[in-house]
Amino acid sequence: MAEVRTYLDVEQLVAAATKEIVETAALSIAARGRCSIVLSGGSTPRVLYEALASDHALRQIDWEYVHVFWGDERCVPPDHADSNYRMASEVLLEHVPVSPEHVYPMRGDIDPAQAAAEYEHQLRVFFGTGRAPRFDLVLLGMGADGHTASLFPGAAAIFERVRWVVAHRVSKLDVWRLTLTPVVMNVAAKAMFLVTGERKAECLQAVLLGSFRPDELPSQIVEPTDGSLLWLVDAAAASLLQGE
Ligand code: 6PG
Repeated sequence: MAEVRTYLDVEQLVAAATKEIVETAALSIAARGRCSIVLSGGSTPRVLYEALASDHALRQIDWEYVHVFWGDERCVPPDHADSNYRMASEVLLEHVPVSPEHVYPMRGDIDPAQAAAEYEHQLRVFFGTGRAPRFDLVLLGMGADGHTASLFPGAAAIFERVRWVVAHRVSKLDVWRLTLTPVVMNVAAKAMFLVTGERKAECLQAVLLGSFRPDELPSQIVEPTDGSLLWLVDAAAASLLQGE
């Protein structure tokens, strides 16, 4: 069952997300000796990453034990302006004491199918063969069309049941993308969406209050079976949720 938390503005939402990450990291490290986190791309997380890199948050996270993964990647080299890895590196990872061996970027610079297979292999090694890839925290964004990670409306990967990572062509954008599949997202201990802005209000209403049609609204497919699902939204995005 999703929990929706609404904040007055982006600043408050980011403060709440930062707190949630600090707490999740502390609990995961205490319980398992490490915290595995999946980062998302897009503009909303950029502000969050800036906050996480700030002195205050930086000191509250034991970065030495944090392992950083990505939920999706654009098929471009790591130094490309569109690279999710580049954005997270520049804004967050270069400013915190995370170990480089604990940073697992998706390879946007090689054959997409090979990159997806390599990433899945990396996850299997990290989590241990035969184990579910249960991330402590999966950060997600939602596009105004309902997409999340690189699961766009109409994509077969929304209904993937076996593979953990896929490469596919997003026809709407005419680009190739790598993305985690719901197989992984839905075994997470916690999935947390960050959604801001009025232009997403209608879609958010449909995703949270409308009928279940993940083919059109892929964000609906995210529902950890044995974990929590948090939606952190600002007042503008939440403006049509009165019926909540
Ligand atoms: C990406 C994403 C994508 C993103 C949404 C929302 O690589 O672009 O991971 O799914 O989270 O498009 O992005 P914004 O927060 O920028 O609207």
